[in-house]
Amino acid sequence: MVERSSCADDAHEWSPWVPRTAESQATARICYRCGKYQRDDADEPAPAQPPEGMATHREFVGPVERYDINAAMMFNLLTTLGLRGGHKLLDIGCGSLRNGRLLIPYLEAGNYVGFEPNRWLVEEAIRTEIGADIVRLKKSRFFYSTSPNDLDPSLRFDYAFANAIFVHGPLSLFQSWITRTSQCLNDNGVFLASFHVGDEDHKGDSWLYPGHTQFRLDTIRAAAVKAGFRFQTLSWRHPHGYAWGMFAKPAFDTSWFSDETLSWNTRVDADRSYRIWPDGQPWLDAKMGLALSRTSPG
Ligand SMILES: C[S@@+](CC[C@H](N)C(=O)[O-])C[C@H]1O[C@@H](n2cnc3c(N)ncnc32)[C@H](O)[C@@H]1O
Repeated sequence: MVERSSCADDAHEWSPWVPRTAESQATARICYRCGKYQRDDADEPAPAQPPEGMATHREFVGPVERYDINAAMMFNLLTTLGLRGGHKLLDIGCGSLRNGRLLIPYLEAGNYVGFEPNRWLVEEAIRTEIGADIVRLKKSRFFYSTSPNDLDPSLRFDYAFANAIFVHGPLSLFQSWITRTSQCLNDNGVFLASFHVGDEDHKGDSWLYPGHTQFRLDTIRAAAVKAGFRFQTLSWRHPHGYAWGMFAKPAFDTSWFSDETLSWNTRVDADRSYRIWPDGQPWLDAKMGLALSRTSPG
């Protein structure tokens, strides 16, 4: 593990200066790579924080007060859509392991792969959130790059997801990952991506952070179909208001839910492997059965 360091002064990849809050004239910018931030607090009588510093691994990926709840949303969505310990999963833009810190322990050894350009984020998360032992025990692998082409071409996955990547990334990056996941997912696999739906496609070709990109639903659907996916949006609330797109390989089963019924209960009722009671038996009966078996001797 290497010590975290700031980029050289002339090597930062600065974001544009953006307003710090809707109410304030003050602006801030951050280096996309090392997480150094600078604030222009000129208009504020008593700036709460120093004008420059290094964002922590939690601050770098979004509002710290929602670090936990984003992970809850993601873990619940993946497990409702069928993720089990034996599946292989690709976490695209895994950042500071907000989701990895739940998924690495859950999945069996060798089944978690993280992809992330900023190595320091992963290393800080291992050091401060989960510890190196579990990464070793679970044989987690990481690829450090901005380009989907740098993922090991021999790897195959059942699930791939990208949370809060294509809300900052250009269309070209989104399209590249749609193509790449189509190649590396098994025939019954699925790719999930959050993004902003807009009336126009974002035009730029660079990363925007902070700052947001947006795409037309038709543009994303066309890219999905071209890559051999079935595409639909999911009714699954994102704490940041993003939409969820599901890119399903031909044999990924979506027959058990509709827009209105995507829920844990529907999954459990539809899937024998999620429960012990027989098909068609109401849950309450099973609960009574369990209570009885707990009180009966032996
Ligand atoms: C808003 S954070 C989200 C991180 C993580 N997915 C989560 O849910 O916490 C965006 C992440 O995208 C990463 N990123 C930047 N450029 C990328 C690229 N070309 N491909 C994949 N990830 C990228 C950033 O380093 C950062 O970790």
